[in-house]
Amino acid sequence: MIIKSLEHLKLLSIKIGKKLSRSDCLLLSGEIGVGKTTFSRYLINFLQKEQGIKLTEVLSPTFNLLYEYELKKFKVMHYDLYRLKDKKEVEQLGIFKESNQTVKIIEWPELLKDNIINKLELNFSHKDKESERNLEIKKYGKWENFSINEL
Ligand SMILES: Nc1ncnc2c1ncn2[C@@H]1O[C@H](COP(=O)(O)OP(=O)(O)OP(=O)(O)O)[C@@H](O)[C@H]1O
Ligand SMILES: [Mg+2]
Repeated sequence: MIIKSLEHLKLLSIKIGKKLSRSDCLLLSGEIGVGKTTFSRYLINFLQKEQGIKLTEVLSPTFNLLYEYELKKFKVMHYDLYRLKDKKEVEQLGIFKESNQTVKIIEWPELLKDNIINKLELNFSHKDKESERNLEIKKYGKWENFSINEL
């Protein structure tokens, strides 16, 4: 699908956010600056609002690897694996240790081996127009029937 604007991206994040529950995993891929963190920010701020929690800054976890957001219904773990060099380093993070307890949003997941059942893979790419993006979505488990047609 085509994401026409930031506002459109926000609508998508809300649609996904409404269906998110503990143990879900979102894998966000695509080039630098394509919008993975922006999507995550909209999503986390939506969840904070929905769950009656004060909105916080949502910064890119590029340097910290992980930022955690304690919400009412679940905890959100926002990872960025860009700086990790091999699968072993990724494994040492123990991302899936308490995987049933948290929602995981993972940027740069290429080195990650996961056996998550309920997951969405969002692959963003640039378009000629600076305000637009292409988005390819792969749906697994409970997301299989998820439709993003009407946003
Ligand atoms: N339709 C759009 N969707 C997403 N981002 C957009 C769109 N239009 C403009 N942008 C801008 O593109 C930039 C995306 O940056 P962002 O940090 O989210 O990328 P990223 O994929 O997380 O990069 P990195 O790989 O460095 O983590 C932001 O400045 C955002 O405002
Ligand atoms: Mg980012």
